[in-house]
Amino acid sequence: MKEITITMPDDWHAHLRDDAVLKETVPASARQFARSIVMPNLTPPVLNAKDAKEYEARILENRPANSDFRPLVTLYLTNSTTPEMIREAKSQGIVAAKLYPAGATTNSNNGVTDISLMSPVFEAMADCGMLLLIHGEVTDGEIDIFDREKVFIERYLVGIVEKYQNLKVVLEHITTKDAADFVKDASANVAATLTPQHLMLNRNDLLVGGIRPHYYCLPILKRNTHQQALRAAVASGSPKFFLGTDSAPHMKGQKESACGCAGCYSAPAAIELYADIFEELDALDKLEGFASFYGADFYGLPRNSKTITLIKEKWKMPSEITVANDNVIVPFWAGQEIGWRLK
Ligand code: DOR
Ligand code: ZN
Repeated sequence: MKEITITMPDDWHAHLRDDAVLKETVPASARQFARSIVMPNLTPPVLNAKDAKEYEARILENRPANSDFRPLVTLYLTNSTTPEMIREAKSQGIVAAKLYPAGATTNSNNGVTDISLMSPVFEAMADCGMLLLIHGEVTDGEIDIFDREKVFIERYLVGIVEKYQNLKVVLEHITTKDAADFVKDASANVAATLTPQHLMLNRNDLLVGGIRPHYYCLPILKRNTHQQALRAAVASGSPKFFLGTDSAPHMKGQKESACGCAGCYSAPAAIELYADIFEELDALDKLEGFASFYGADFYGLPRNSKTITLIKEKWKMPSEITVANDNVIVPFWAGQEIGWRLK
């Protein structure tokens, strides 16, 4: 196959950040995606409908001239989120809210410290049809970083989906066989997003022969058996698994550091990276469902009507991208070959 045309995809999990860097991140996502679910972990976070609408306006100011890219900005749940805030946000078109256990990842210090106190909020979300997006990792110091997703599922997620059966839950950026199995066996109201890096790599790629900070993200890459389970999940064509890049830029100096930040900036070639993965899996026929149908269906939003075309043509991810104030971002897969190119 030399060329494939698919319905325009959406990214159900992206970090566009804020202010000057939006000049880079918004066009990078808009080149391939019709919509992105935009994460709210800004400093300060997106706490309510007003914050979300203001952030959406700042994103739209950076949309390329001929683009109708739609950012779907989300709310950041805290101990102080109320059911009224949820209903107000829903009435203003906000479709989802994100649960970060406090301390789990970048800018999650304001996250929820006691999930058991979230009942009224989860009930309001189920009631008004707002999706719950979960960073599924426990943060307790005694739990090994490679076990944090599995323990989160056992300790919290099983209970959440059991108790709020009408709540639509997306377990974001899954990294383990445990997560893939859990989602597969759960009700139709539970789904998961998968990133390029967790499908392409495992922890050996991160750590053998030298530490590679541009492969460091959270949840951290797991062992190869988990990577293979994630690949099998997307190759299965199950509508419970759909595209969410978790594209998350950090400046070069913050990644290549004694205490480096977590996040892989994949937006400049995201759909092409996924095309490579599906081709390797001999499942290119499943790419469109994963990238363009299942997420929209799960969110209850219309599928896109435009299309994109990918050409089988080698190119390389740029090694560096210069953004505002001469800052540099090293993207995911920097300087490495990609087999498909967006026409
Ligand atoms: O690697 C990550 N980076 N994981 C997250 O959960 C957050 C993200 C970020 O905001 O940088
Ligand atoms: Zn994320």
